[in-house]
Amino acid sequence: MHRSPEISAFLNASTAALRLACHGAARAAAERVITRFAARPGPACARAARLPVCAWIAPALAAAPAERAALGHAFAALEQQLPWTRRRQSTPGDGAFYDGHANAVILGPGGLEDRADLWVGATVMAPGLRYADHDHPPEEVYLALTPGQWWNAAMDWTDPGPRGAVYNPPGIAHAMRSGAGPLLALWYLPL
Ligand SMILES: [Fe+2]
Repeated sequence: MHRSPEISAFLNASTAALRLACHGAARAAAERVITRFAARPGPACARAARLPVCAWIAPALAAAPAERAALGHAFAALEQQLPWTRRRQSTPGDGAFYDGHANAVILGPGGLEDRADLWVGATVMAPGLRYADHDHPPEEVYLALTPGQWWNAAMDWTDPGPRGAVYNPPGIAHAMRSGAGPLLALWYLPL
């Protein structure tokens, strides 16, 4: 099965960034995801879709820290192909959050590459917003391409910084929030 050069380059950049940023349980989770990168690619499935909040992606990438430049470039090369959507549970009653966030699956169910064994994607948020608290059975590693803060039920609000990562153990309640600028982050989950 064919894997596009953009996806291949993004997975190579992700591997390097995850191995630099992750230690302990986060590293173990990252290695589980990395192992699955190499599995037979799934079919290309998603149709590109954008939301108005996607206008924040370019300025977020332009301000990405040097430590994440390679990952940011690799992401920039494929973000136009992605199926950007609001989180399924979001409604206009969420106020500014409704039009202020979007997620896209790169590898995973319904993603740019349709896969059932991992979940790799991106979230963009406009400035000054908090993502809805959520939880899911798989553990999760986040890499940030911008400043931002992450919280989970075992951790205070923290900005992992341009060299760090956030690790959410399986099933833990967690959230993130943007500051004065947009938030752009990548997430990696072994399913
Ligand atoms: Fe999550």
